[in-house]
Amino acid sequence: MIIFRKTILALTGLFICIFLMAHLGANFLLLFPEERARELYNNYSATLRGNFFISIIAYINYACIIFHVLYAIIVTRKNKSFRSVSYEMNTTSENSSWTSQNMMLLGTIILAFIVIHMANFWFKVKFQHQEEDIYQMVVDLFKNPIYLLIYTLAMLPLGLHLSHGVQSAFKTLGLYHKKYIRWMATLSVAFAAFMGIGFAIIPIILYFR
Ligand code: HEM
Repeated sequence: MIIFRKTILALTGLFICIFLMAHLGANFLLLFPEERARELYNNYSATLRGNFFISIIAYINYACIIFHVLYAIIVTRKNKSFRSVSYEMNTTSENSSWTSQNMMLLGTIILAFIVIHMANFWFKVKFQHQEEDIYQMVVDLFKNPIYLLIYTLAMLPLGLHLSHGVQSAFKTLGLYHKKYIRWMATLSVAFAAFMGIGFAIIPIILYFR
């Protein structure tokens, strides 16, 4: 049962990573010169909203976020009760890094960020139909130093969570060979750093532009 739960955690986590890669790629459009960025970002956003196939992927993504959170809670609770029976099972060096032991804390901060983020954009687009100029909505938000701070600081826990989460997911799914374990760890950290820095740099550039 624990394997099944960890598999759900791994698969939903990797799906969210694919979403994040696409999301970051699209958000880089914001960095084009102003009028070009407005045209590209608003066109991209309108294309997403008008595409049935992409809407289905978006709902799968929401479901993945919900199941990822639920199974993270279940797996953490089970691990805790298991640890109280046999503590030495969790003392390998791989399991004892600060990040691996604080995945729940990091995940909770990311979840809080996602709630704020959805209220900033998604809610306004979906329920208040403020879809005319999403580029301007983003630029206006990041003129506020508090949001600039939230969006840049939250990328540290995101990066840390990904750096452990990605390699852990590949291990759970058995998609690794012992020989390449170091490579996989390095690739996970590189991926996490790219995502964290990539997302953080956008509000900073927009603020100072
Ligand atoms: C520079 C940072 C970011 C910017 C400028 C940004 C911008 C946006 C915008 C404008 C939307 C609404 C798009 C629309 O409905 O047309 C959106 C949706 C969303 N964002 Fe972000 N985002 C950023 C970072 C993140 C991060 C780090 C995460 C996750 C940890 C995230 C998760 C989401 C999710 C889940 C949605 C809803 C997607 C959907 O409805 O399919 N975003 N973002």
